[in-house]
Amino acid sequence: MSVDLSNKVFAAITAVGGYIPQNKRTNFDLEQVCDTSDEWIIKRTGIKERRILEEELATSDMAVRAIQDLVSQFGKNLQDVDAILVATSTPDMPMPATANIIADKLNIKTAWAFDINAACSGFLYALDMGASLVETGRYKNVLIVGADNISTYVDIHDRSTNILFGDGAGVVWLEPSKEGGVIDALLQSNGSGRDFLNIEAGGSLYPLDRPDVDITDKMYLKQDGKTVFKHAVQSMSDACLNVLKRNNLTVDDVNWLVPHQANQRIIDAVGRSINIAEGKTLSNIEYLGNTIAATIPLCIWENLKQIKTGDLVMLTAFGAGFSWGASLFRWMI
Ligand code: UT7
Repeated sequence: MSVDLSNKVFAAITAVGGYIPQNKRTNFDLEQVCDTSDEWIIKRTGIKERRILEEELATSDMAVRAIQDLVSQFGKNLQDVDAILVATSTPDMPMPATANIIADKLNIKTAWAFDINAACSGFLYALDMGASLVETGRYKNVLIVGADNISTYVDIHDRSTNILFGDGAGVVWLEPSKEGGVIDALLQSNGSGRDFLNIEAGGSLYPLDRPDVDITDKMYLKQDGKTVFKHAVQSMSDACLNVLKRNNLTVDDVNWLVPHQANQRIIDAVGRSINIAEGKTLSNIEYLGNTIAATIPLCIWENLKQIKTGDLVMLTAFGAGFSWGASLFRWMI
């Protein structure tokens, strides 16, 4: 039985904003604190520098600036916002949600606001949640933020992580459209991957005052890079091909692939695996590194001039959990 889509309401991205901190952490800075080299880092990751948020600021501050950027570029009225979904693994504090803090800082009184923690897949998850809200017809203007202050959790002396991560925030505004918008999302998770990429301390398992374990050691982000790398390439490639297939599309229909920015070699391997034409994959990892939930909206934000109305955009991400997925939308700006 075919589905009648003539009355379908899509959730379309109608505005975008971003913020990256001023302070740069270059490969040469890292050479001073651990046994690494600019040459190694560029060759194995494609990264030259990352941005680091000032110590006295937090995730909400970057998100607020990203939203202010959206407002100034697209002339949106924040009093129209119905809901704010914030994808982050680095909330300002365990409670309340960073989304609440952002709403307060922006004087948004009309919206409900909550966080989604799905690590590097967070923006993908939040975008689909937000699109679902818009598609119900009950919510008309939804902000989807991806923001992480991950540098707080990076041990500056650990060369297996300090080379990869940086801070940033990106945001998109969703609203109803008859013409097009979010088409589909294939989102997945497998918690058995939790040992390979995590920050253990600060939750209920390892509270900061637990006396019987060395909490300092657990306060930092840890990963088994090789295992994460392998799963990332396979999972993102499969998700992309499967989401295309179930929508009767092929990779040639895609105008832009916006992958999570974890390692340029992962981005290239996914591109090869799904056989996407050269020049269609967006990347900004060289000068931002991995900003966790912010990589995808920041990449869209930086490429606004290239993406044209009606273009088919495919997003894909992989991160802690494991969590991963791919989604498709028509660009309606
Ligand atoms: O968003 C999801 C989050 N994370 C990821 O997606 C991370 C995925 N993984 C990666 O990006 C990569 O695994 C890393 C960049 C973390 C590591 O690259 P690799 O190519 O997997 O390196 P490796 O760990 O296999 O190490 C290769 C060699 C080793 O030396 P030997 O044993 O061959 O002599 C390491 O000791 O490179 C050495 N090495 C380094 N050398 C200089 C490892 N890290 C470094 C370093 N600088 N930072």
